[in-house]
This record gives sequence, C-alpha cells and structure tokens, in this order.
Amino acid sequence: MRRFRRDPLGYIEDCALQSGAEVFRLPWGAWCVRDTELALTVLRDPVFHSGMSTFFGSMLPSRTAQVALGRAVRDLMRAHLPAYRQCVAGAAAGLGPVSQWPQAGPLLVYRCTADVLLHPGAPSALRQQMAQAVAAGLTARQPTMRQRARAEMLRPRLLSAITEHVRSRRTQGPAADEPRDVLDAVIGAGPEEFTDRTVADLYLLLFQSIVGNIGYAVAWSLLLACLHHGPGRSWPWPADWLVREAARHRPFVWMVGRPVPHPLEFGGLPFAAGTVLSVSPYLLHHDPQRWDRPEMFRPERWNEPGGQGPYLPFSAGPFTCAGAAVAHSLTSEAVTALAQDARLAVSGGDARPLVSGSVLPRPFTLCRTLKAPAQAALTKGGE
Ligand code: HEM
Repeated sequence: MRRFRRDPLGYIEDCALQSGAEVFRLPWGAWCVRDTELALTVLRDPVFHSGMSTFFGSMLPSRTAQVALGRAVRDLMRAHLPAYRQCVAGAAAGLGPVSQWPQAGPLLVYRCTADVLLHPGAPSALRQQMAQAVAAGLTARQPTMRQRARAEMLRPRLLSAITEHVRSRRTQGPAADEPRDVLDAVIGAGPEEFTDRTVADLYLLLFQSIVGNIGYAVAWSLLLACLHHGPGRSWPWPADWLVREAARHRPFVWMVGRPVPHPLEFGGLPFAAGTVLSVSPYLLHHDPQRWDRPEMFRPERWNEPGGQGPYLPFSAGPFTCAGAAVAHSLTSEAVTALAQDARLAVSGGDARPLVSGSVLPRPFTLCRTLKAPAQAALTKGGE
C-alpha cells in the first residue's frame, strides 16, 4: 500500500507487467483487468452493466433515470457552447501574463459556465459560495491533506445552501418549459419523491464533473504542450490533437470499477457477485502493443493513419460519460482561446502526475505573452 501511495500509476504498470494472469489484485481488494482486449470486452459487456452506473451511486432510482439526467445536462451544456466560446476568449485575455495552475483551470471554466450552472437570477449569495468552492479546490479530490481540508470545509455549508435553494425552486414550481440551468435539469429529471438534499448532492456531482474535470483537462493540455515544445514558438498542433493526447497520456480518470452484479466469467476466470472489477484507462492508453511509443507525448499521433489504440478517457461501453463530446469541445475551446495570439511557456511544473482519486497536474506557472500584432493590422488602411 505504501508503494502504491507513493506512485499509483507506476505501481499498477508494474503489476500489469509482472502479472502472468489476465487480471491482478489492487491494494484495496478490487481486481484490475490487465489484458487490453479483455478490458474492452469487460467494458462493453451488457451483463456486467445490467445494473446501475456507479457514477451516480444510489442517488437515482433506476438506470433510465440516470440516462435521462445525463442527457438533460449534456443537452444543456451543448446549447451553452456558443456563449462559452465567447466568454472563454475574454477570460483567457483577462488571465494576465502570469497565472498559477492547475487551479486556474477550474476557475476559468467556472467563470464561463457559472450562468448555465446556476442562472443569473439565482441568489447571488449562493453563486458567490459556488465561486468560493471552486477557488478552494472543491472541484476534485485535492492531493494533500491540507488542501483537502481547506476544500472540504466548505462542502457542508454549500450543500445546505443548495438544498435550501432547491426547496424554494420546487415550491415555486417550474419557471420555464426548458431548464434554465443544470439545477433545473436535475430537478426535472428526478422523481418527485426525491429529497431536496439528494437533488443538491446530484447537482454538486455534476458541477464537479463540469468545472473540475474540464478545468484539469485544460491544465494538463497546456502543461504537456509547453513541456514538449520550446517557448517562443506557436504550437504546431491543433487544439483537438493536443487535448486528445493530453487525455491519453494523463487521463483524469485513471481507473473505473464497479461491483459484478451477478456471478460472471471473464477470460475463463469466475467473479462472484459483489467483486469489484476495474479497468484502467491509464494502462490501456500506455499499452505498447496498441500504441506507438505510448510513454511519449506526441499530439501528431492523432493525425497518423492507424496511429491510435484504445482511447477511453471517458470510459467506454454502456456507462460511457454522458458529457464526453461536449467536454472535449469545452476543453478544446479553452485551450484554443489561451493559445490564440499568444506565446505560452510554463515554469515549475513537470509531467509527473499527482494521483488522488483523479490524475492531477503538479503546480506550475503559465506565462502568456501576447504576440505583437501583425504589421498589416498595424498599418490598416495603408497609412
Ligand atoms: C474532461 C471532462 C470529463 C471526463 C474526463 C469525464 C469522465 C467520465 C468517466 C470516466 C465516466 C465513467 C465513470 C464510471 O464508469 O464510473 C463519466 C461518467 C459520466 N459523466 Fe463525465 N467526464 C467529463 C466531463 C463531463 C461533463 C462535462 C458532464 C456533463 C455534461 C459529464 C457527465 C457525466 C455523466 C452524467 C456520467 C455518468 C454516465 C452514466 O452513468 O450514464 N462528464 N465521466
């Protein structure tokens, strides 16, 4: 366990290398599928996925309700994309020449999703509390005890403020036909007998998926691109390749696992009901049989015919992330805005991950220098 805590990704890579079997035991008792083909079979298996997704825990009553909520939030985020694109350009400009990451990632994403998370007519005190939660790091499990304590301290008060606001919205009844924000979507997708507190818990879960997951994906993309490309020159890669490669190299969700719902057999091995079976996107993304030099960060692989192996930053199969496509767009838009007309360089960071529930980048400083306007623009009109 000590070895695992020191370097979880290195530890599972070693286990996978040393294990002769198709699955190996994780320090917390779950099983992890080592073989890539078998891992993909497990992720797509309909019987393994006949229960409910663990993402929502036991907060929703049925798989149908889980799917409906995922789709409602995804549709809302998709409709918000044009407004986000506009906002993120301004937010990138307002970032200043020096910014501290990775915390700047969730802050930037929050700034441009605040109105779709909680519409502008919602109590400003609650909106302020949400902003404070983002600043304190409540968007992901933080790596150190001190950071975790600072973030988690805010959770009870935030949850009770959201619960209070849910009560008031539900008392007033729906204000419009369409959801105005993610909170309306959660209220609308849940059954009436839902407690206000369950709505608040679900809302916070989705809030973290949007602000945290995307914010840290932006941070990883910037860090890895700057580490692999000298300062002073524009990146030779489109944001799309960059974001994909960052999520391959350092997938924010490095392990997905769930209990086996019925006794099942995979790769000739029997698994009793309740056994936790996991697949690691990190291992699959670094399988040398399926990726060319997987240890290297190479965005150009996304332009090479046949250059891609199994790619599952959003998991795969029936329980794939409902927001996968929109999350990719939101991340790419932010990276594009930050790199637009600017030279980027990082200091203080490296590619080693901090694993604490998710895969977070180590702190780094981003220096953003605006490129001099082109001569033609300066002399517009021929003067
Ligand atoms: C970079 C950003 C994101 C990453 C890396 C990510 C990753 C994931 C992963 C790996 C899962 C599967 C979890 C499991 O099987 O246990 C998942 C589930 C889910 N994600 Fe995301 N996610 C991201 C952003 C989002 C966004 C923006 C939304 C909302 C629009 C979202 C909504 C969901 C939902 C609803 C599920 C549960 C799906 C289901 O059970 O049907 N995610 N996400």
